[in-house]
Amino acid sequence: MKLIIAGDYQEMSRIAANIIAEEIKKKPDLVLGLATGSTPLGTYRELVRMYKEGKLDFSRVITFNLDEYYGLSPDDPRSYHYYMYRNFFDHVNVRPENIHIPDGTAPDVEEESRRYDEEIKKFGGIDLQLLGIGVNGHIGFNEPGDELLTATHLTDLAPDTLTANARFFGSIDEVPRKAITVGLGTIMQAKKILLLASGPEKAAIMAELLDDDAVSTRVPASFLLLHRDVTVIMDKDAAEIYK
Ligand code: F6R
Repeated sequence: MKLIIAGDYQEMSRIAANIIAEEIKKKPDLVLGLATGSTPLGTYRELVRMYKEGKLDFSRVITFNLDEYYGLSPDDPRSYHYYMYRNFFDHVNVRPENIHIPDGTAPDVEEESRRYDEEIKKFGGIDLQLLGIGVNGHIGFNEPGDELLTATHLTDLAPDTLTANARFFGSIDEVPRKAITVGLGTIMQAKKILLLASGPEKAAIMAELLDDDAVSTRVPASFLLLHRDVTVIMDKDAAEIYK
């Protein structure tokens, strides 16, 4: 694991965007795995800036998002579809046909999960996966438990996740209880992984992840310790208690 401690959120975002930009320059048809939530917002802003300044071209980039809330339609402002268009896709030249996000309203979730995995496979897997981390160590919506699933699936969100994400919904009761997420297998098969962590609320999980040197389904992100090419970028607040 390569570890970068950035001075602040802005610097973390700049470093992440530069790494993504370099990979796109090396491979213009990069298969890019994307995350939502608060953490990557600054990275998307930087990537949009680079595109607007004519420094980056997304015309051949293929994207696959990690997850979507179950039951939210793409035009629901709280859906990850909506988030991705508003914060990124509406401002860059990723071709609409190259954008992939699980459909939270698919009538047959198992079929949708299978279809999503097949699409990822068709493009040869993820080249570069951007990840945030939950306060409970989840990546994508692979929540702590007795086992972790390898393929895309419908999952129950953990109580910690519902609490953390209530801020996007006004109240915890509004947060969907389930989501479709890619599995640990898809994430671990990504050729390169970029994990971002920002803010004091991520300090405890980052210290646990980086200090423990152990893999456990209770901390899904700990599986990243087994991957060959993971870069962790965290700001000072998230690195606060890491030694
Ligand atoms: C989002 C995702 C989640 C988030 C995590 C952190 O697509 O897969 O794993 O990355 O919940 O969320 P934030 O960045 O809002 O703290």
